[in-house]
Amino acid sequence: MIAIKKICCIGAGYVGGPTMAVIAKYCPNIQIQVVDINKERIDSWNNNDLSKLPVFEPGLPEIIKAVRGSNLHFSTNLVDAIKNADMVFISVNTPIKKSGIGAGQSSDLRWVEACARQISKIALGHTIVVEKSTLPVRTAKTIKEILFATNDNSNKEKSFSVLSNPEFLAEGTAIKDLESPDRVLIGGEDLEAMLALKDIYLNWVTDEKIIFTNLWSSELSKLSANAFLAQRISSINSISAICEVTGANIQEVANAVGRDKRIGDKFLKAGPAFGGSCFKKDILNLVYLSKYYGLDQVAEYWEKVVDINYWQKNRIYEEIVKRLFGNLFDKKIAILGFAFKANTNDTRESPAIDICKNLINEGASLLIHDYKVSEKSIAKDLSSLDVNSWEYLPNVYDVIMETDAMVILTEWDAYKKLDWERISLHVRRPFWIFDTRSILEVDKLENLGFNIWQLGNGSNIK
Ligand code: NAD
Ligand code: UDX
Repeated sequence: MIAIKKICCIGAGYVGGPTMAVIAKYCPNIQIQVVDINKERIDSWNNNDLSKLPVFEPGLPEIIKAVRGSNLHFSTNLVDAIKNADMVFISVNTPIKKSGIGAGQSSDLRWVEACARQISKIALGHTIVVEKSTLPVRTAKTIKEILFATNDNSNKEKSFSVLSNPEFLAEGTAIKDLESPDRVLIGGEDLEAMLALKDIYLNWVTDEKIIFTNLWSSELSKLSANAFLAQRISSINSISAICEVTGANIQEVANAVGRDKRIGDKFLKAGPAFGGSCFKKDILNLVYLSKYYGLDQVAEYWEKVVDINYWQKNRIYEEIVKRLFGNLFDKKIAILGFAFKANTNDTRESPAIDICKNLINEGASLLIHDYKVSEKSIAKDLSSLDVNSWEYLPNVYDVIMETDAMVILTEWDAYKKLDWERISLHVRRPFWIFDTRSILEVDKLENLGFNIWQLGNGSNIK
């Protein structure tokens, strides 16, 4: 059995940071170096003020406090970390390609390739290379070719095994997901290397949850799992639109449908469209893969899941314009929530981005609030606009003051507990509340004289 004593993780992002923190917590005898080319990010991971960590995740600061400086280290020194490691995790970003062949669909693998080249050059002895990033099927072949191809004679003393070990954590619940995963997937060809990785997980995950597959099944399972989850959201979002025109209620329908054990009650919450860095990218990856192999019907099938997602965001924006008399000039709208879901500071692919851009282009002035997203992130996300008629305010009540409407885009718990009587005294009338997350009590708000549109709520038609 190969015993792993030193790990290097390349990429200190939403996956690399929390994943290595949890391994460090449960494997005190393993020394872990998390490295990144982004010095600002590494400095934030090393910040003594734990509220300044680059990733907001419930439970993460406590783990970082316990293990950082002991067996978990964050640095920009890739060379030393790779040289000393028995196992290297590649945890870098794999966004959609912006130009060239496959633009808009296939993954941009430049960062993964850069990692493979660095590992090939720097690693010493036998190194197990683990794909942690979500990758197109057969990327392990590319990584292997790069690792093994070299003109450098010293490479004769090096050897590599490549494993696929995709990460299934969801942001906002990353620590819980990492500490009690539904399964751990290890794909590979070298049984010894697979057992060495399994041995790490066995420190806190039970044997029956650890699945061995071949490399390609592992890579494809990750894309498929995300595609299935996203498909459920597009399905329930499509039904939400039917509820609104028929008088049905999406929460009642989701409950009734989800009570069937074969369907299950998870991931049936209608909302303003799925966001996050993974779903759209991973489905489009599947679409690209299908087209590449001539499976056009398969590609079209999955593409529809993404189409419905765009449509959902767009129809929400249209509902807002329609209810505000078709005109947003001289109107102030409060935006409650900018993160793509609650309990994260991440805004990647957040539906708030497109909805806010459309409202601003329509002439509205926006006042934006979020509990964890910084003004800097919002500015970056809205930077393509010609007019920047938005303002960020850290206090939720200041955002609502003197506005014509409010749009709830992120389901932060605290928005459920706002003081509506206080709000009712300070808004312009008629005032509209657009609840795209179905978190508010409609009757109570109507009694206070508010107009309310709630996603998937058929009582909107009365
Ligand atoms: P991220 O952008 O937060 O982090 C990636 C980090 O890698 C960045 O800090 C970047 O500077 C660094 N990096 C890039 N190239 C590098 C190089 N050559 N050397 C050193 N550092 C380098 O991305 P993320 O959200 O952590 O996602 C990473 C991967 O995990 C992606 O493939 C993603 O699809 C997958 N994934 C993400 C999630 C999630 O919830 N975010 C969940 C499961 C899987
Ligand atoms: C997702 C997968 O869940 C995770 O397994 C994978 O590793 C990474 O991608 P993440 O994007 O972090 O995780 O969050 P998730 O909870 O899946 O939510 C994604 C989006 O779907 C969010 O915008 C969320 O608001 C939305 N969503 C989720 C719904 O609209 N309804 C639901 O029922 C669930």
